Amino acid sequence: MNDADQPVMLLDPYGSWVTAEGVPVVEDFGIDLLELPVARWPRMDVAGGIAHLKGRGDFVAVFVLDLGPGEATAPQRHLYEEVVYVLSGHGSTTVETSDGRKHSFEWGPKSLFALPLNARYRHFNASGQERARLAAVNDLPIVLNLFHNEAFVFDNPCTFPEREGKTRHFAGEGDFIPVRPGRHMWETNFVPDLAAFELKTWEQRGAGSSNMKFILAEGTMHAHSSQMPVGTYKKGHRHGPDFHVFAVTGHGYSLFWYERDEDFVRIDWKHGTVFAPPDMMFHQHFNTASVPARYLAVALGSLRYPFTTEKRTQFGSVDVNVDQGGRQIDYKDQDPRIHHIFLAELAKHGVQSRMGEHIDESRFEAA
Ligand SMILES: [Fe+2]
Repeated sequence: MNDADQPVMLLDPYGSWVTAEGVPVVEDFGIDLLELPVARWPRMDVAGGIAHLKGRGDFVAVFVLDLGPGEATAPQRHLYEEVVYVLSGHGSTTVETSDGRKHSFEWGPKSLFALPLNARYRHFNASGQERARLAAVNDLPIVLNLFHNEAFVFDNPCTFPEREGKTRHFAGEGDFIPVRPGRHMWETNFVPDLAAFELKTWEQRGAGSSNMKFILAEGTMHAHSSQMPVGTYKKGHRHGPDFHVFAVTGHGYSLFWYERDEDFVRIDWKHGTVFAPPDMMFHQHFNTASVPARYLAVALGSLRYPFTTEKRTQFGSVDVNVDQGGRQIDYKDQDPRIHHIFLAELAKHGVQSRMGEHIDESRFEAA
């Protein structure tokens, strides 16, 4: 029997594409993207690599682009969405909209932007000395596996003017759409500095917690940012896969567990780290820094276009406690080891707990 007679089955067009691109691929539970190995990526004309998180689900991947001083990417255009977070360096991106106009904006570390669907774009490193590193979270896995035709995805003339946003959205301006805590939206294409962006209070998710949901380039790709004040942590919760969490400010750690697990899985994070909580695995984020800890989460299925029933449910019940039918564990119901670990970690960093309002800490001091 020769190869031509073999049954064609169990194909993975996205996986085959990744192999053919020939750049380094790292798969792990959590990844330091500043250290991700890269190699020349002919398609991009700069160096790059691919990060596959264990909790990425079936829809999402992360491409890392590493632009040398003065380098620019080859012009790109594709029928998949991309949300870009700037890890290091300074530069600019030019996006050509369907009316033929070019929109340029300048980014630096901790900038966030979206590339409107199938718009032609180019990234430029503006520095003559410094490299620039971008993390592009994208939904190519689902798009390529759905159509398994690269010409359709990478060489498609269809335009999507309704997804290009307003001209001022490329300049870093946006529109605030108030809803209620945890559902407030900021609609834009570009956030110049996510570390400085004003978040809104969302106390139900944890002590002093704040948040903003982003609607980027009218996309199905989701992004939100959350912050924990000094000496605090969020409440534990769980949901489906593919929320890619990037540390933005401060440092800390997250714990992960399934209901009957004896021990926690732990990921320590700081700027450059990304992790993705796997499908319905409980997880909880802890700030051990002497400054507020802020993170960015990117996924497929936005607050405006949830895409899956799972995301629709998630956005509805993320801050409802388990005993009320939701997916969140209130502080009073959590495993006592969680607060013990937190106090020990804070002590290592010389930070005082500010959880006293929410947890009776006297029983922990006595222990
Ligand atoms: Fe989560």
